[in-house]
Formats: sequence, structure tokens, C-alpha cells
Amino acid sequence: MTEKGSRLEGKVAIVTGGSSGIGRGVALSLAGQGAAVVVGDIIKAPREGGRDTVSEIQASGGKGLFIETDVAQERSIVNLVDSAVKHFGKLDIMVNNAGINIIKTVHELTGEEFARIMDINVKGVFLGCKYALEHMTKQNSGKIINMASNFSFTALGNICAYVTSKAAVLGMTKALAIEFAPLGINVNAICPGATKTEFTRPFWGNTSGMEELEKRTPLRKNGEFMVSPSDIGKTAVFLASDDSDMMTGTSILVDGGWNAW
Ligand SMILES: NC(=O)c1ccc[n+]([C@@H]2O[C@H](COP(=O)([O-])OP(=O)(O)OC[C@H]3O[C@@H](n4cnc5c(N)ncnc54)[C@H](O)[C@@H]3O)[C@@H](O)[C@H]2O)c1
Repeated sequence: MTEKGSRLEGKVAIVTGGSSGIGRGVALSLAGQGAAVVVGDIIKAPREGGRDTVSEIQASGGKGLFIETDVAQERSIVNLVDSAVKHFGKLDIMVNNAGINIIKTVHELTGEEFARIMDINVKGVFLGCKYALEHMTKQNSGKIINMASNFSFTALGNICAYVTSKAAVLGMTKALAIEFAPLGINVNAICPGATKTEFTRPFWGNTSGMEELEKRTPLRKNGEFMVSPSDIGKTAVFLASDDSDMMTGTSILVDGGWNAW
């Protein structure tokens, strides 16, 4: 259940990839704290089925808007940001969350597939930052949150392009933090560990992989070692709120301690 409060009352947020998984958790958490939330995604409803994120927000008395968006397309991102500003009058919080992975050895991975991952995971984040910053610069305020990964710091085999893309997101976050700090804009990243979403579904049945992950994760919540989308949502609320005003260019790992070893 999403926590209710007023920490983001009057704020307007965009969440890319907000139709499912982590983005959905973030969108619901921001809305639960009073923000109007614009979801930009290539799909409207979660792949696992159920009510779409904006209907969920509206059913709880919140404000939401869905804009069909492909973050890899510049015109699509421009439309997303413009629609949010037109509908709600401003933009305070930009969460660049949409991301994909392709699990293949380097021998199998094609140049086109590598480029597709970069287009969504890196260029998509850049475009989201670029066009959100246009509005935030006029307002002299704003909070940008980029979804990086525990694989921004470490790696596994067979996900070379993904690891490369997530390390790039951290570099971009720091560069933009420095460039926009004089304007009162914060740019930070969240680095989730293994989070239970459609994205990690291919691993759920992989017993040896899961056993290894479980062994390396010291924390448990209600007996569960995987992170939940609402855990990431709560971190996003913190980074979107005044509580993080003196934080920029940094990243928060939410991984149950996986990286602590
Ligand atoms: N799940 C994890 O374990 C995990 C761990 C670390 C980081 N992350 C990152 O968190 C983010 C969200 O992952 P998730 O687990 O919720 O995945 P997910 O597959 O459940 O959700 C991703 C969402 O992004 C959307 N999307 C994909 N391509 C898009 C595009 N081109 N334009 C717009 N939307 C697009 C999808 O439609 C989907 O709704 C990703 O950036 C991922 O790399 C996930």
C-alpha cells in the first residue's frame, strides 16, 4: 500500500516508464505525497495486467495524466514535457526511469541491440533531463532523479550493454548536477538492486541465480530479499522533496545490502 502524506503537495512530476514495475511504484509514491504525476510510457497498463497507473492515482483522489511516450525519440520527449507543463502549469520533478535490458553474450549481442539499449537507457535519460531542465531553468528550481542500477558500480556477465548504460547514467547525473547547481536544480540517481518487476521475471525461475542473489543480500523485509517498487518509490519521494535540498550529483543504492560485500 502506498503511504499517504503531503510532502509533495502542489508539485508536478513526470515519471518515464511509469506504467509498470519501479516507475509505477515511484509514480504511486509521488502521487501518494500529493504530487500531480504525468506518466510517460510506450504502454498504458502494466504488462502483468491490472489497472493502469494513472487510473490508480485518480482512484485514490490524486491527479494524473498518461502521455504515450518513447523516450528514445526526441519529439516524443518534447511532447511529454510540453504536455505536462500545459496540463499542470509547471514541472518540478523529472524521474527518468524507463529502461531495458538484453541478456546475451557479447558474441550474440548485435551492434543494433547495443545501440537500442543506449538509445533508451542513456539517450532517453539525456533527453528527459534536457527538456525538463529547459522548464526548471526558467523556474530556478527542480529535482531530477535518474534511475541507474547496482550495475552502475559492479557487473555481471552477459549484460555488457546494460552495465555500460547504467555507468553512463551516473556520469551524466554528476555532470548535470554541476552544470545546474547554480540554478538551484538537484540532479541525483537511485541505484536499485534486484527489484521484483517484469524486468527481473526471467530470473525468478532461475534457481541457482536466485540462490546466489539471496545469499549475497543480507537484508530481509517480511522475509523477502528482493527490493519492491515501493521501496524505490520512498527513496524517490525523499529525493523529490525539500529534505534532499543539499544533495546533488549523488546516488542512493537501494539493494538490501547486495553491494556491501
Ligand atoms: N528491476 C530491477 O531489478 C532493476 C534494478 C536496477 C535498475 N532497474 C532500472 O529501473 C528501471 C525500471 O525497471 P523495471 O524493473 O521497473 O522494468 P519494467 O520492465 O517492469 O518497466 C519498465 C517500463 O519502461 C517502459 N519502457 C521501456 N522502453 C520504453 C521507451 N522506449 N519509452 C518509454 N517507456 C519505455 C516499459 O513499457 C515499462 O513500463 C529501468 O531503468 C531499469 O534498468 C531495475
